[in-house]
Amino acid sequence: MLSQKMENALNDQMNWEIYSAHIYLSMSSDFSRKGLPGIAQWMLAQYQEEMFHAMRFFNYINEAGGHAKLGVIDAPPYEWESPLKAFEVALEHEQGVTSRINALADLAMEERNHAVGIFLQWFISEQVEEEDTVGDIVGKLKMVGDGGGLFMLDRDLGTRVFTPPTTA
Ligand code: FEO
Repeated sequence: MLSQKMENALNDQMNWEIYSAHIYLSMSSDFSRKGLPGIAQWMLAQYQEEMFHAMRFFNYINEAGGHAKLGVIDAPPYEWESPLKAFEVALEHEQGVTSRINALADLAMEERNHAVGIFLQWFISEQVEEEDTVGDIVGKLKMVGDGGGLFMLDRDLGTRVFTPPTTA
């Protein structure tokens, strides 16, 4: 059972996850054309992960008696000046997502909706991981600069494949 306010807030986050997915897909496109296939692959895997996040909200809203409603998704930027800049933008974006998930958890607490609180637990842990992963890549990109190290890092990042968690 969801209050209208909660249903709206969960829908808002579902659509934000789709927007997040579009940012990463757009980054994938940009780095693919710039000759960095590994970063493009990493971004594509992140796109898939964000769509998985969106689908968790979609399924939960409907299961909880609400109505998952798809909204207008803003166009993401389509070009970034460097891999470092893109990952810095990604880190800032993920920090914003964390704040949004925390605000949702606050609302669940206010409404004493424990079921929503439990649903959000997974996202609270997930955001710690997302920020940590992207923050690590920002650090590595700062270390390697634009030289040959970037191509080695690109190869490394290209090994990423998104596998949906089995417990989801
Ligand atoms: Fe769905 Fe990257 O948070």
